[in-house]
Formats: sequence, C-alpha cells, structure tokens
Amino acid sequence: MKKVYLETFGCQMNVSDSERVATQMSADGYEITSDETLADVVLLNTCSVREKAEHKLFTRIGQIRKSAADRRAAKPMLGILGCVAQLEGETLFSKSPAIDFVLGTKAVGRVAVAVAEVLDGQSFYTDLGEREESYEWSVAAAQRNSPYIAFVPIIEGCNKFCTYCIVPFSRGREKSLSASEIVRHIRHLRSEGIREVHLIGQNVNSYRPPTDAGLEPFRGATQFSRLLRAVAATGIERVKFTTSFPRDFHPDIVEALNENVNLCNWVHLPVQSGSNRILKLMRRGHTIENYLERIAKIQASPRRISLTTDIIVGFPGETDADFQATLNLTEQCKFSSAYIFKYSPRPGTPAFAMSDDVPAQEKTARFLELEKLIRVQQQKVFQSYIGRTVEVLAEKVSDKHPAQLSGHSTCQMVVNFNGSAEMCGKIVKVQILESKVNTLYGKIC
Ligand code: SAH
Ligand code: SF4
Ligand code: F3S
Repeated sequence: MKKVYLETFGCQMNVSDSERVATQMSADGYEITSDETLADVVLLNTCSVREKAEHKLFTRIGQIRKSAADRRAAKPMLGILGCVAQLEGETLFSKSPAIDFVLGTKAVGRVAVAVAEVLDGQSFYTDLGEREESYEWSVAAAQRNSPYIAFVPIIEGCNKFCTYCIVPFSRGREKSLSASEIVRHIRHLRSEGIREVHLIGQNVNSYRPPTDAGLEPFRGATQFSRLLRAVAATGIERVKFTTSFPRDFHPDIVEALNENVNLCNWVHLPVQSGSNRILKLMRRGHTIENYLERIAKIQASPRRISLTTDIIVGFPGETDADFQATLNLTEQCKFSSAYIFKYSPRPGTPAFAMSDDVPAQEKTARFLELEKLIRVQQQKVFQSYIGRTVEVLAEKVSDKHPAQLSGHSTCQMVVNFNGSAEMCGKIVKVQILESKVNTLYGKIC
C-alpha cells in the first residue's frame, strides 16, 4: 500500500483541512504514516501568518530532500498545500525543485486529483481554485486528531483586513456554512461518541449564512448566537468556539452561554494591543473602551467564563507608551492565557508599507516583559481555582507522568490528575490542588 505523510503548520483551520485531506487520501487507497522516511507522498499544509512560519516550510523541504538523499532513497512526491501555496502559487516551483504540486487553501478537496496528475507525468501542477460545491466537510473517525474532540468549521475566510494580516489574502472572503448542515454534522459526531466540538473559523462570531435554514426555532440577536443555541440543543456535551472578533462580539453570545451549560465557559477574544492609537493603525475596528465593555459583560456572567487573547508587540510606530498601555490592559483583563506575537511584516498587507521601526531587540524585550506579566496574571487566575472543582475531559495519558491523565476543563485550562488510560474519553470532576505554568493539577473527586 502506498503511504502518505502529512504535516500541518498554522491554525486550527489548517489542522481541520488536514483531517479532511487525510480522509480523502485514505479513501483513495493510501495509508497515512507518521514516519516520513516511509512515505511515497509528503504533504505539507502550510501557514504564512508570520515570516517564521514561512521559513519553516523551506527548512522542512530541505530536510526531506536531505533525508531521502542520505538514505539513497528516491525523493517522495512533495505537495505544498495551504496558505503559502495559495499566496505563492507557481512561484514555489522556482524556489524549490523538490516540489511536485501546489494546492491552495480551497483546493485541498482535490488532493487525490493532484497526486494522480503528478503520477501521470504532469509537471508544475497547480490548483488555486475555489472549493467544489460538493466539498465534503466531514472527517473519517480514524483521521480525527482526537477520538473525543472534533473541529467543526462554521465560517471560512476573513473580510476584516487588519493591516498586518495575510489571512484575508490566503483564505479569501468570509463564507458561512449552512446552520442545518452544521447541526446535522454535530448530531452525527455525537452519535459517534464525540464529547466536545469546537466551532472554528477566523472569526466565528461574524457567522452569516445566506439563509436561516436550521436556525428557525432559535431566537437570538445575531445568527451566531442563534447558531450557538441550535448547537446547544443537539445535546452534545461540550461546545467551544474560536476565534471571536471583538467588534462583532454581541452581548447575546454571553446570554446564550448563560442559558446553556453545554456551551463552555471560555471566550478567546484577541485584543492585539492596549493602545487605541495602535488599534486604529491596525484597523481592528474596536477600541479599548468597547473591548472592556465586552469583557465586563463576560465577567458579569453568573458562570465563571475564562478569557484568553492574542497580542502583537512591536507593531510599526508602537512607542513605549503604547506598549505600557498594553501592559495596563493586560493587568485589567484577567486573561487566563495569551498568545503573544512579535510583529512580522507580511508582503502584500497594508502594514508592509509602514516602517517596521521597532528594533528586533526591543520587540524581544517587550515580548518577554509581556510574557512575564501574563504569567503573573495567569497564576492569579489559576490560584483562584485551587480548592474548586472543574469538569475535565480526560484526553490522554500525560507525556511526562504515565500515572497521570491530561485534559481540558470546560474553561479550556489544561488539567492533569491521577488516573489510568481506560478513563480517557470520560468527563470527570477534578478538584484543583496546585497550579503551575499553563497547567493545573488536581485529583478526581
Ligand atoms: N482572526 C483572528 C486571528 C487570526 S491570526 C483575530 O482576528 O483575532 C492569529 C493571530 O496571529 C492574530 O490574532 C495575531 O495576533 C497574529 N498575527 C497575525 N498577523 C500577524 C503578523 N503579521 N505579525 C505578528 N502576528 C500576527
Ligand atoms: Fe487577520 Fe484581522 Fe482577519 Fe483576524 S480578523 S484573520 S487578524 S485580518
Ligand atoms: Fe496560518 Fe493560514 Fe491559519 S496563514 S494562521 S494557516 S489561515
């Protein structure tokens, strides 16, 4: 049987696309291998959100070529998928002769066609086309990243054009999937034993399907909050959703969480900066004041909703005072964790024309200072969980301690606790005893 090795960079959208690529390749008679040296076909699903992510691709291509040469083996067929593929298209062939085909973000449903074309002798095969109408959004159980958790795309693309961001160019315009299809998909996942679904999209709360099909019985101020209620009504045990866009974060989302315990108590709301001047340059469409209003609504919930965020340091023109404002905002918001990024200029974005004037050293210093503060804040939040009981989905045996299990709470914190492998897939009550960096420790009660 021919073997395919698939490696994924970037966000959950890419992870989710890769699950469907694996589904398709295995339906086409390929075995999915985790050992690239055994592979006849290597597929790299790429990310271009920061320069480093793009560099990684060329490093990996070099390693794959070298590894084949060292083994005196034939170079595997190499397909480049995803965001770098979409943005760079055919130019990739001139950057590396090892590449056999290029498949854009919406063409991944035709991966088997691409492989067949290359086997047929086609050179420079490139498909940057649209998704087919009949695109199959479901994933074979064997190809899911977790047997208990499933990613369910609800919207793809982005219309926001934040000045630093490449995603609207690599993923195209927002397109929402039909609510009736999403609900049908989730009912099916539930019948297959999935305990938790993550509704995913670049901006889930910008969800706007062309019709209300599937939403009719569900009230709500926006189509997204109606979708949340519709998904809650499927009875699936846990529903999480990411990412939310601050400008479109309607308070009714919090109402939907308040009404439905299976909608998990976690919101990921990227603020990007604590300075209104920088937010304007970023064209985020929100101010610190309206961000704080949304947070106040979240924090006023009778449920305890955890809050996470993304922050960019060193955006063009970011002064010490702007950065100080980001530190101040972080102090105020009680984030339980944050992804911090150093600004990386992306060719083709509006910010690329601005001067990348925060020196690399200063970006690093700001990154480290913010990281330290986030850690302190996290420990404050985590300490407040000590003695409390949280519900955890037991996902896997801990990498470091085989007598421990690891999983996520409903509020998306990593929790480790004593337990054995046969408990995996169960939702258990864990009393929190201790907190360390990014992880809570507890015992089953
Ligand atoms: N749609 C989401 C984010 C998707 S990209 C949102 O609007 O919040 C994930 C994160 O990557 C962003 O939140 C941002 O913090 C970071 N990012 C995007 N472009 C970047 C760039 N050019 N340099 C550094 N970080 C960037
Ligand atoms: Fe990028 Fe902004 Fe779209 Fe998020 S909302 S994907 S940061 S352009
Ligand atoms: Fe990266 Fe593309 Fe996602 S650029 S972050 S993989 S949408």
